[in-house]
Amino acid sequence: MSDLETRINHWFEHISEMDPSNVEARRDVELVITKLDDGQVRVAEIAVGGEVIVHEWVKRAILLLFRLRGLRKIEVGPFEYLDKLDLKTDYERRGVRVVPGASARRGSYLSPGVILMPSYVNIGAWVGGGTMVDTWATVGSCAQIGSNVHLAGGVGIGGVLEPANAVPVVIEDDAFIGSRCMVVEGARVGKGSILGAGTILNPSIPVIDAETGEEVSRGYVPDYCVAVSATRRREYPGGEFFLPCVLIIKRMDEGERHNKVALNNILRDHGVAT
Ligand SMILES: CC(C)(COP(=O)(O)OP(=O)(O)OC[C@H]1O[C@@H](n2cnc3c(N)ncnc32)[C@H](O)[C@@H]1OP(=O)(O)O)[C@@H](O)C(=O)NCCC(=O)NCCS
Repeated sequence: MSDLETRINHWFEHISEMDPSNVEARRDVELVITKLDDGQVRVAEIAVGGEVIVHEWVKRAILLLFRLRGLRKIEVGPFEYLDKLDLKTDYERRGVRVVPGASARRGSYLSPGVILMPSYVNIGAWVGGGTMVDTWATVGSCAQIGSNVHLAGGVGIGGVLEPANAVPVVIEDDAFIGSRCMVVEGARVGKGSILGAGTILNPSIPVIDAETGEEVSRGYVPDYCVAVSATRRREYPGGEFFLPCVLIIKRMDEGERHNKVALNNILRDHGVAT
């Protein structure tokens, strides 16, 4: 455990006493946010065996930040905001293209080659290179998004801060998340998989293989699957109802790209030096 980690854990034990006058705690917490912003630390990562490792102390630093910062006015031309946290800056150096209307908070990490259409990326999130965060998509706090992912228009990727969740959402490399999907509460989409437009995925939602009829997981779409929103029959004392499920309608080969969701490199090559 690093000294910084030990100190953050210590401050977190005293979170109710924390306020902006605590200079020492602020210094430690701001250092973690700088490291998050530069990608030197992450809230979560995928270990070699595929397991998601959550670095709780980093999450704690983000929570502490809200106690240690006061509100201040932020003005942008005719727009006015009132917030505690800073926005991310220095996109040219980072090799990230940001379309007007997009905002990312400082303490999120955007890899070189990311494109932000008018969208929102919250603190603690990590986004891999070549990923497109399309219009009105939101990447919640601490969510972990891989490389060459497309989060299509209006996608909602849940965060871990509010309501408090233990594990962030993970979208692995090369995945495609269709328009208006909602992926929340530590749900996970595997490498190269496609979630059809309008799918809701959380750890309570069964993921069913259409070939076998078997439930393969809850809240996790394995690698290289095409999965869409479907319903399953449920009997309750009040009658028969149809609850949502996620149905795997196709399995692709490893490395395969579905022709309907192929990336358009013309949109990605934005010529910002990386
Ligand atoms: C999932 C998707 C890629 C289709 O994949 P596909 O392998 O070509 O599947 P098909 O079109 O052959 O459809 C297979 C079945 O799934 C159904 N289906 C397709 N997409 C669906 C969706 N999003 N939700 C529910 N069912 C869907 C089809 O009706 C079809 O049913 P059928 O076999 O009874 O005819 C596509 O429908 C989709 O959702 N694309 C995302 C579009 C999008 O979000 N674009 C981004 C814009 S920013």
